[in-house]
Amino acid sequence: MIGTMVRQLINGASLEEIESGGLSQYYADHDKAVYPISASGVPFSAASIQSKGDPRADLYEDMAAEQKARATYEYLIQMADDPDVIDPLRFLREREVVHFQRFGEALRYVDDYLDSKRVFTMPNQKQG
Ligand SMILES: [Fe+2]
Repeated sequence: MIGTMVRQLINGASLEEIESGGLSQYYADHDKAVYPISASGVPFSAASIQSKGDPRADLYEDMAAEQKARATYEYLIQMADDPDVIDPLRFLREREVVHFQRFGEALRYVDDYLDSKRVFTMPNQKQG
């Protein structure tokens, strides 16, 4: 959605508008194509995806990622003045809140399961 929004905003922009909007370097590298990068210019890569293998650690990581995304959308909303930009950003921010809540529910299920007492049996064992 963000890529589509950026594409729609920049699609009809003149070179003067691109320069005055501070997008000269982006334009030089990517024209008006969508190229996912951070606000500081770091391209998106799989290196930003975390996976520890421990369900609790991974769910906490997911929850932190949702909160970071929510905060980023809030910062973007604070800087925006176009209602056609603010409304989708609000929608995306609310989605992050819901995602955080769903990961929290999953964490409670995992906690309950991992903390539950389990009995393991070995069938067909000879009694000694
Ligand atoms: Fe999310």
